This record gives sequence, C-alpha cells and structure tokens, in this order.
Amino acid sequence: MSKVIISAKNIRKSYKLSKKNIIEALRGVNIEVKEGDFSAIVGPSGCGKSTLMHILGLLDRPDEGELFIGDINIKTIKDRQAHKLRAKKIGFIFQGFNLIPTLTALENVMLAGRYGGMKKKERKERALKILKVLGLIDRVNHKPNELSGGQQQRVAIARALINDPAVILADEPTGELDSKTSLEIIEILKKLNKDNNQTFLLVTHNTDVANACKKIIKLKDGKNE
Ligand SMILES: Nc1ncnc2c1ncn2[C@@H]1O[C@H](COP(=O)(O)OP(=O)(O)OP(=O)(O)O)[C@@H](O)[C@H]1O
Ligand SMILES: [Mg+2]
Repeated sequence: MSKVIISAKNIRKSYKLSKKNIIEALRGVNIEVKEGDFSAIVGPSGCGKSTLMHILGLLDRPDEGELFIGDINIKTIKDRQAHKLRAKKIGFIFQGFNLIPTLTALENVMLAGRYGGMKKKERKERALKILKVLGLIDRVNHKPNELSGGQQQRVAIARALINDPAVILADEPTGELDSKTSLEIIEILKKLNKDNNQTFLLVTHNTDVANACKKIIKLKDGKNE
C-alpha cells in the first residue's frame, strides 16, 4: 500500500472581512494524497482551490479540521516547525512562476536548497543536475526576464524539486502559458511522476491538463463535489 503524504479531514477556513462580512472559503473539505499520486483539483473560480493549496502547503492554517503531513498532526506543531516541515517536504509551483528577478536560474534553484538546509556544494551540484534534466543547462546563468515563460516555469519546477519533496503542490502551473507550452510542462510533470514516483497535486482550469492527471478531485462552494 502506498504511503499517505497528506490527509486532510473536514477542513474549514473563513476570511473575516468585517463583523458582518465573513467569507467561508472552505466548508469541510476532505482530501488524501498518497505517494505516487498525480491528481488535479478542479472547480469554478472562487470555490476555494488556492485557499486549500495554501493550507495543505502549510502557508496558512485551517480554522477547523484535521491535517496530517505524513504522521505529523499540524495542530501539534509551532509555526517555526511548520516552516521547516514545508521546506523539506513540500515543493511549490505557482502560476506566475514567482522567481526572484535579480537571481539567475541556477541561483533561484540553489536558494530553495539553502532553505531546505543543503550545503552549498551539494545544492549547486543538485541544482545543475536538475536544470540539466529539465533542458536548461545552457540557460543556468540567465535571469528570469531573459527566459521564455516555459523556461521560467521549468526553473520553478527545478526549484520545487531541489529538496526532494514528498509532494509538489502546483496552483495553475500552466495558467500563464500557451497551450503548446502547457502541454510540454505537463509532459515534464508526468515524466517526473512516472520515472521518479514524484507525487503531484495540482490545480487547473485547463481540461487537457486535468485529463492528463490520474485522479480528479472536484470542489464546489468550498466543499468536495
Ligand atoms: N485573503 C482573502 N481575504 C478574503 N477573502 C479571500 C481571501 N482569499 C480568498 N478569498 C475568498 O475566498 C474564496 C476562495 O478563494 P480562492 O482563492 O481559494 O478560490 P479559487 O478556487 O482558487 O479561485 P480561482 O480559480 O479564481 O483561482 C473566494 O470567494 C475569495 O474571494
Ligand atoms: Mg486560485
């Protein structure tokens, strides 16, 4: 049986804008991510997908519900421990790539390795190895604005991979890419899933991307559909 990486039960999250105006973004979501999963979360705009990804990625805490990362109950850990757990276990890929503009491709990837506690020599070797696999070895000294959208997203994938995370969370990883480049990016993720058993949970509006996933999780109005 494959290992459970994320187990979330009855997750609730509200945003309080004022006393009278409270938005219930998540109203009891259940989700389980197992090793080797390649799953898509789909649902209409505003249904709570990004809110859920932030909570599963320990960028935010739920108001209610149970969240386990591996066998760690996140209720029992402090923010500092949660940051450490996130750096080691979870990789992120965002729609807008979120690379640091003043750093080169190599430096962007290496920086994530530093957060993961990797020594300089090791993170340089590993960053170069991953960038090579992603077809970027001749672009390692380019800054983000010297790279195409697809190349920037590949740097972001390399950054997500450097700490060998248990799971990579990707919120609309192809949202800013044209359809051909989107498919290239998805092929890369699929290959990482197949060859390395890398686990992915991604959010997408793109039907082609969702159909490329092994499993589809539907959300509606802050709940599982
Ligand atoms: N920081 C915030 N403060 C207040 N309300 C928020 C905040 N973030 C999200 N919301 C609200 O919570 C609900 C869920 O938002 P969320 O960003 O999770 O949706 P989504 O499913 O990711 O949508 P999209 O597909 O457009 O990205 C929305 O109604 C949104 O307006
Ligand atoms: Mg969103």
